[in-house]
Amino acid sequence: MSYLGRFRVWRGDSGEGSLQDFEVEVNEGEVVLDVIHRLQATQTPDLAVRWNCKAGKCGSCSAEINGKPRLLCMTRMSTFAEDETVTVTPVRTFPVIRDLVTDVSFNYEKARQIPAFDGGDTAPGDFRMQQIDVERSQEFRKCIECFLCNNVCHVIRDHEENEPKFAGPRFLMRIAELEMHPADVQDRREIAQNDHGLGLCNITKCCTEVCPEHIKITDNALIPMKERVVGKKYDPLVWLGSKLGIV
Ligand code: SF4
Ligand code: F3S
Ligand code: FES
Repeated sequence: MSYLGRFRVWRGDSGEGSLQDFEVEVNEGEVVLDVIHRLQATQTPDLAVRWNCKAGKCGSCSAEINGKPRLLCMTRMSTFAEDETVTVTPVRTFPVIRDLVTDVSFNYEKARQIPAFDGGDTAPGDFRMQQIDVERSQEFRKCIECFLCNNVCHVIRDHEENEPKFAGPRFLMRIAELEMHPADVQDRREIAQNDHGLGLCNITKCCTEVCPEHIKITDNALIPMKERVVGKKYDPLVWLGSKLGIV
């Protein structure tokens, strides 16, 4: 079964652009990316869209569909009524290069700023990882780096001026993963709070809501990280220890 779907797609570059209306065939079982590809094949050969796997695993096809951050390849057309206009726009937080393609280099810059895993003097074979620790980091490792969480977080979505001091949920989660790793010897609480803006997160949980991998970013990474920072700041023994230089 197929029908003629109504689509409104943002077209333009970093200078200017507008929403353009199209009518395009939609077939049973298709996802939004299929329809965007049909648009390219039949009406707009120069429409720019970034994609790669078409399986929800590469994180390339992030966009906003009817204003909601989503993956184009994982959003089924059956989600919408046949007479509904489906509006597809580029992710809003990052600068547009052309049409649906944005410049997400902000995220790669932040990734480079996070100090890597540091196992200290532990020699290979000396440390045995417990299953509970494996499972904890396994959840965070499901991340496909679609950056929908960083796109939706109001701290930078509505306040560009926060970008230098906020790594976004994706990379605060990376810091939390390393902080919780039993074999990592670095104390990551200071950099999370002071360099990467953990304190700017006010737990709105929008990041968790949009994550296509259903990672509980807020509950399992950001809140535990905040608790660790608070523990360091307000625990009188930790405070005394820091004054004496022993913690
Ligand atoms: Fe995407 Fe989820 Fe990873 Fe954020 S945490 S980049 S939303 S997969
Ligand atoms: Fe932003 Fe997620 Fe915190 S959306 S405010 S990082 S809970
Ligand atoms: Fe790879 Fe959509 S094309 S996640």
